[in-house]
Amino acid sequence: MKPVDINWSELGFNYIKTDFRYVSHWKDGKWDEGKLVEDNKIAISESATALHYGQQCFEGLKAYRTKEGKIQLFRPDQNAKRMNSSCRRILMPEISEEQFIDACKQVVKANEAYVPPYGSGATFYLRPFLIGVGDNLGVKAAPEFKFVVFGVPVGPYFKGGMAPVNFMIAEYDRAAPYGTGAAKVGGNYAGSLLAHKIAKDRGFADAIYLDPQTHTKIEEVGAANFFGITADNEFITPKSESILPSITKYSLMHIAENYLSLKVKEEDVFVDKLDRFIEAGACGTAAVITPIGGIEYNEKLHVFHSETEVGPVTRKLYDILSGIQFGEVEGPEGWIVEV
Ligand code: PLP
Ligand code: COI
Repeated sequence: MKPVDINWSELGFNYIKTDFRYVSHWKDGKWDEGKLVEDNKIAISESATALHYGQQCFEGLKAYRTKEGKIQLFRPDQNAKRMNSSCRRILMPEISEEQFIDACKQVVKANEAYVPPYGSGATFYLRPFLIGVGDNLGVKAAPEFKFVVFGVPVGPYFKGGMAPVNFMIAEYDRAAPYGTGAAKVGGNYAGSLLAHKIAKDRGFADAIYLDPQTHTKIEEVGAANFFGITADNEFITPKSESILPSITKYSLMHIAENYLSLKVKEEDVFVDKLDRFIEAGACGTAAVITPIGGIEYNEKLHVFHSETEVGPVTRKLYDILSGIQFGEVEGPEGWIVEV
């Protein structure tokens, strides 16, 4: 393993070319056995459905270096399941959980020098994706597909990591009822770029989307789910068919209930009733837990706990979640997979 020249503590969430990526090709009804390659460019037909009709989906998960120097994945089976559910939604062939997890492990092992050391706060982010390729012109599913996994060492997604950030309510919608909001498909993110840019230009970390039907309920952040904590020790998170079923969110619901004895509810979160929360956060693989200082809605900034300090419950949730991910806290059975 040759050492790499990276200042781990300065990493943000940016692409760095690592040495190997995994590629598997689907043709005539089956995936080939896949292999590691060095080239980070993919040659595909100019007419591929991934380029024209958004027939593609992706995942995000992380590899963590433990105190003992081992490397582990957090709930990769859940990412495999969600990728398959995205594939079903946009007519792409599913990939076995076994091949998905094996591909992730191969990429981590082959790029081990890029897996940040324990204690640096940085992690190795894996980006599996599946795209429609091959010649095609009409609007229909592709004749061939590629499944690729690459990995990148990353620091915090939102600047400051566990420092609170502010979000603004987007004037655009991210997903429609019965649309593709629950699938991790690129089109959802293309549709969010403008709202994201407006939010960034106005000094916010990102936009928060409301439900497209009534524009009264919080759905999720552009790249993370939302949760709030009430004074009655409740962990509340939006219930919606058009948000991404966040693996971090479901893990936090389990932690809130079983490690912190909070009452956990998935329910409507009305944007004009944010007073009920004494703390709020954004959660996701890239975001981990990012405390929400405030949310701007109707030109007013609603501040939860504080714009500068992390609330005590958010802090506990973070400590337990990251403790499990880095191997310091015993997690529920099956959550940790050694590489
Ligand atoms: N919501 C959106 C739109 C996301 O892009 C992500 C990131 O994957 C999440 C939520 C969080 O999901 P997870 O916790 O599975 O990473
Ligand atoms: C993730 O957290 O894995 C995401 O996909 C969020 C974003 C980088 C798209």
